[in-house]
Amino acid sequence: MKKEKLRIAIQKSGRLNEDSLKILKDAGISIDNGKEQLKASARNFPVDVLYLRNGDIPQYLRDGVVDVAILGENVLVEKGKDIIRGEKLGFSKCRVSLAVPKSVKYNGIQDLEGKKIATSYPNTVKEYLAEKGISADLHIINGSVEIAPNIGLADAICDIVSSGSTLFKNNLKEAEVMLKSEAILAISPKISEERQQILDQLQFRLKSVLNART
Ligand code: PRP
Ligand code: MG
Repeated sequence: MKKEKLRIAIQKSGRLNEDSLKILKDAGISIDNGKEQLKASARNFPVDVLYLRNGDIPQYLRDGVVDVAILGENVLVEKGKDIIRGEKLGFSKCRVSLAVPKSVKYNGIQDLEGKKIATSYPNTVKEYLAEKGISADLHIINGSVEIAPNIGLADAICDIVSSGSTLFKNNLKEAEVMLKSEAILAISPKISEERQQILDQLQFRLKSVLNART
């Protein structure tokens, strides 16, 4: 009989990739091959690691194709409200913020009424603005969002802010912090009982790693 394995997704490339592999390693899980191969197995723990694009991960979890993932909470807020949230993992801390050109005087959210906002996080922005009773015109773009005001595409942007250097370099200033985020364990609502047992062991190990880190 084939031995049951837990399928865990991590970010293929980008800010979470290294720290995700590191925390698995600290939990005693050594992964064999590099990420050129998009699926790798662990030598000493019943787990397969899949390297996927951040934005695709919620759908994989929803479908049960992946059992668990390490990804930014901000991605779950944007498109994974139905995904089960596990431990916060303490790395990749960032904010999801609205930003405007430095040269513009910002008095408050009412200044964004009727304005154009470029973002990769349309649901998060829509919800935030709706709560504040503001309506704006959203332009969805997938990357390099901070360039939008400089090229006349938008009056404001909403994106992730970590060090703040991308905002700074593009002459923007943070106007509203909508959300604070960090890496989190995200769990499929369809996880099987057998795999849940493997996940329990993984979570136990991750908790000890997190305790040791504080
Ligand atoms: C991310 C994010 C911000 C930036 C924030 O972009 O979209 O632009 O990092 O980090 P900082 O505050 O430390 O500058 P990324 O570099 O991943 O590229 P992308 O937007 O083109 O995907
Ligand atoms: Mg960016």
